[in-house]
Amino acid sequence: MLTDPFATTRRLLLPSILSADFAKLGAEIDEVLAGGADFLHLDVMDGHFVPNISFGPPIIKSTRKATPAFLDAHLMISDPLRYAEAMAKAGAQNLTFHVETIDDPAAAAGEIRKVVGQGGRVGITLNPATPVESVYPALDHVDLVLVMSVVPGFSGQKFMPEVLPKCEAVKKRLRPDQRLEIDGGINRDTIAQARDAGVDWFVVASAIFDHPDRRAAIAELRSRIA
Ligand code: DX5
Ligand code: ZN
Repeated sequence: MLTDPFATTRRLLLPSILSADFAKLGAEIDEVLAGGADFLHLDVMDGHFVPNISFGPPIIKSTRKATPAFLDAHLMISDPLRYAEAMAKAGAQNLTFHVETIDDPAAAAGEIRKVVGQGGRVGITLNPATPVESVYPALDHVDLVLVMSVVPGFSGQKFMPEVLPKCEAVKKRLRPDQRLEIDGGINRDTIAQARDAGVDWFVVASAIFDHPDRRAAIAELRSRIA
């Protein structure tokens, strides 16, 4: 379990709690972290930017209390600048905003950096239909780029291999201290393709939480990115 995933260049596995049972969230988190996962991905959805509503600061705060693991928040919300401070105060340590929601991504990254504070991180992400060039103006201002490999909104969707060239293009442009993350449809059959495209961090919801043996699922995924 990692409290600072930027301190290593190893490939890392991040369960998304979107597929956890929120009625027993603490136990769910303990199980996947004790089972070998590195840290946690928090999918915040507003029912506006995406056609689903998940959770916001109260669940982030409960997660923060439940574990010292690094918390990576993926903001699928139309107005990330309005809510960034509340997410950071609740305990999210990285805030990733969607480029589709912002006119000036470099300026937005700067605004979010102010609210995450010292040790906090900023990420930018893009939907499968969004051209990769849209994130380039922000590359100097972010700590990570998240390439979406499904249309965001729901876990359990099919991996879109057509986004892999975007991973390769971004990876070439990142500094050694920046990370490339992928999210959506990652499972035992797709994770190696993402690894080969240069991905550092792999978000997994259903392939871990819906698996009858989560520890085995994590071990299997990890063996494919070793
Ligand atoms: C997609 C979310 C993902 C999602 C991944 O809208 O951003 O993090 O929960 O789910 P799986 O791994 O099941 O595709
Ligand atoms: Zn996500």
